[in-house]
Amino acid sequence: MSMLITGIAELVTCESTTEGAVDEPLHAGLGVLRDAAVVIGGGGEDSAPTVEWVGPAAQAPAADWAIDLEGRSVVPGFVDSHSHLVFAGDRSAEFAARMSGTPYDGGGIAVTVEATRAATDGELRATLQHRVQEMRAQGTTTVEVKSGYGLTVEDEVRALRLAREVTPEVTYLGAHVVPPDRRDPAGRAAYLDLVCGEMLQACAPHARWVDVFCEPASPHAFDGQESRRVLEAGRDAGLELRVHGNQLGEGPGAQLAVELGAASVDHCTYLTDADVEALAGSDTVATLLPGVEFSTRQPYPDARRLLDAGARVAIASDCNPGTCYSSSMPLMIALAVREMGMTPAEALRAATVGGAQALRRTDIGRVAVGLRADLALVDAPSWLHIPYRVGVPVVRALEV
Ligand code: NIG
Ligand code: FE
Repeated sequence: MSMLITGIAELVTCESTTEGAVDEPLHAGLGVLRDAAVVIGGGGEDSAPTVEWVGPAAQAPAADWAIDLEGRSVVPGFVDSHSHLVFAGDRSAEFAARMSGTPYDGGGIAVTVEATRAATDGELRATLQHRVQEMRAQGTTTVEVKSGYGLTVEDEVRALRLAREVTPEVTYLGAHVVPPDRRDPAGRAAYLDLVCGEMLQACAPHARWVDVFCEPASPHAFDGQESRRVLEAGRDAGLELRVHGNQLGEGPGAQLAVELGAASVDHCTYLTDADVEALAGSDTVATLLPGVEFSTRQPYPDARRLLDAGARVAIASDCNPGTCYSSSMPLMIALAVREMGMTPAEALRAATVGGAQALRRTDIGRVAVGLRADLALVDAPSWLHIPYRVGVPVVRALEV
């Protein structure tokens, strides 16, 4: 069965080679087609629908079904390459305290760990599914989900199994923080042994990625040496690498990520010139999470500096109960434009094709023949309404 979508005022393909794309600086790099059509086909028990044709509506081929979007716009579904959706409990009071000046240091993670361990599988599954639906309702069609609120072998495996039910992009984050009852030097060393040993062996079959909260500025997180050990052990167990780095202060995260060939280093709030240079000379994506700066009152990362240096940049939500309980990629795009010096076109690319690069995926993040038909519908005559109509639900995943 094939479906023809017509009446598309602006179709953002994120393909620089799109024939007939509008040649205006505002849309640079987006491959925007006006008055466009798309044909989607395939899709069955085991395979997702794919794009079979893209072009001007006047030249569209026939299909089994047709829908007319009547002058709305279409963009690639957002690729949210960083989230922590498997959790229970509530930390809204911590958010309120931060708004009145209490700084974030990662200490609140322990509160979520306790609540998550106490929750049943059914409770965790229900809230996880709800959050994924909330994301789709705002245009996100791919999400990466981390463990990291279990911190025992059993609880980390459980989080990964549940995450696997909603996405293939599952990340083992046993090295989120050292559990509060193991903060003495011997307990810390033993926890690191566990994360790199028994816990990793139990978790690796359920995950694609390994991640570590590399943050010497936090007493709860891991320093450069500890992080290197976690990442190397994960790599030896067959996992690909991503890093939480440079969130609370300058540190070794970004350069470690580059050195070890990580797909992405996420946060990048505090970067030295050497960090920027290392990122620019690498394939490692700098993933910026502006909802975190919004929700912690930290300064926003300097996206302009990274882009001008030639680094690959993505934006993601980091949806989690501590530093950013927002699943809204449209909000992240708006913040990137308003607060981080990105043009609207750069922000949209960072939320789509940038996220795909951060997950090393070539089948998503763009609209092109042969790729997954992961599309988002913008209820407006231009994709620019995504940052322009901030706070208004103008974009949602297109259910095909
Ligand atoms: O990406 N910084 C580390 N981890 C999360 C926050 C987790 C939490 O506070 O619950 C982050 O910001
Ligand atoms: Fe995170």
